[in-house]
Amino acid sequence: MKNTSDSSRRNFIKKMAGASAAIAVGNAAFATQANNNYFEKLHRNPFSANDKINFALIGAGGMGTQDVITALKTPNVKLVAVCDLYKGRLKDATTKWGNDLFLTQHYKEILSRKDVDAVIIATPDHWHQQISIDAMRAGKHVYCEKPMVHAITEGPAVIKAQTETGKVFQVGSQGVSSLGNEKAKQLLKDGAIGTLNYAEGFWARHSPTGAWQYPIPADASTDTVDWETYISNTTKRPFDATRFFRWRNYRDYGTGMAGDLFVHLFSSLHFITNSYGPNKIYAAGGLRYWKDGREVPDVLLGTFDYPQSVAHAPFNLSLRCNFVDGTSGTTYLKLVGSEGSMDVTWDSVTLKRNKTTETDDPFLIEQMKKAGTPLSDRKRILPPEEYTFAAEKDYLGGPYDHFVNFFTAIRNGRKVAEDAVFAYRAAAPALLCNDSFNQDTAMLWNPETMQLVKK
Ligand SMILES: NC(=O)c1ccc[n+]([C@@H]2O[C@H](COP(=O)([O-])OP(=O)(O)OC[C@H]3O[C@@H](n4cnc5c(N)ncnc54)[C@H](O)[C@@H]3O)[C@@H](O)[C@H]2O)c1
Repeated sequence: MKNTSDSSRRNFIKKMAGASAAIAVGNAAFATQANNNYFEKLHRNPFSANDKINFALIGAGGMGTQDVITALKTPNVKLVAVCDLYKGRLKDATTKWGNDLFLTQHYKEILSRKDVDAVIIATPDHWHQQISIDAMRAGKHVYCEKPMVHAITEGPAVIKAQTETGKVFQVGSQGVSSLGNEKAKQLLKDGAIGTLNYAEGFWARHSPTGAWQYPIPADASTDTVDWETYISNTTKRPFDATRFFRWRNYRDYGTGMAGDLFVHLFSSLHFITNSYGPNKIYAAGGLRYWKDGREVPDVLLGTFDYPQSVAHAPFNLSLRCNFVDGTSGTTYLKLVGSEGSMDVTWDSVTLKRNKTTETDDPFLIEQMKKAGTPLSDRKRILPPEEYTFAAEKDYLGGPYDHFVNFFTAIRNGRKVAEDAVFAYRAAAPALLCNDSFNQDTAMLWNPETMQLVKK
């Protein structure tokens, strides 16, 4: 198995020894090495682009707006059209990006336009599948926000559409394209933390916005919102502005904490480890505080068993999200192995190595005695060994890199990492986490064939 071999550990140690030598001769790539602390700057080469790409936005709310801002930072792309079901967002779009935009409340009018090469889909989750499939079948490349789908049953049709149309399809968990995730992938491969056995991630929030109580515009009504289209693929109900503007809280439209937040960590974790995903998913939680009519928990814990695979040894994952959290703070992705751990963000990796050789392990003591190695019964305090890898100040970030990867794939016919298969394998454990919570049972999944396993 790749990650556990002695040779990969030697690989890491050799690289670090080389790095120390570089510091000794004053290599600028390595800023400091005080005691056992090592620091390296992560660098991304500038990106150039020849062919102009015209794109459109479908769903011009918070994330759609951010995506356009990021996409427009990349060279030679143009926003030509915007679609949203709420007229206020269309008005905002002209204020931000000019009066020349084609505006519509009907996404199919965007898909039939010849001047649109690609679309960003940033609608609520219950529209991702249908619009993605329609867009690819209409010949458009697709950048779809996460999670790729709203229900576990919806994934295969997106994969089929991508395979049959050959269009570039990328899902929006931006971390996957970041320097931080790339560095973590390389460190794990090089054996920096030994054999991975555990990973975790925690989100802590305690504010109305953090708990998805977003503002509802004063003019929200059936005159300004195309409610009938919004609910046309789900339960029929009379107009309800809260269900439209705070959609994350309702199961017909959103995917709860797991689909909103856990999915980012599945994407990063699977990218770093080359994993296909867990085979057992169990969730617990409850609605403790934000009792505003929502249908999803505000405290959610998920535990996930990752089976042995070609890429990795078996390991466990623990994820937790708490919207009533007064103290504990957010951690991003932590990977723990037999010889160390890594804290991974999009911009940095902090690697801690366990270099303890002094031990009370009776087996080791026996071996040392046999080898004639003198044993001290007094414990030594070993200096910590910590390595920080941090992006350079001018790094434009994971979101920028994600759009660069998307547009580069369109221009050069290349593949993206976070395609439909990858994104389904990331979405599935998140969606099954919700299913586990709602059905109060563990869910079994085959991550290779991407199918539910009957108990
Ligand atoms: N990648 C990330 O870091 C990240 C962060 C936040 C949100 N997201 C994802 O982005 C998506 C949007 O989230 P948001 O926070 O921007 O929500 P939002 O409510 O701010 O925006 C959604 C917009 O979609 C519009 N809309 C709804 N149905 C539509 C349809 N059928 N056709 C056209 N427009 C429609 C709404 O009017 C609204 O303007 C979600 O899938 C969410 O999970 C991703």
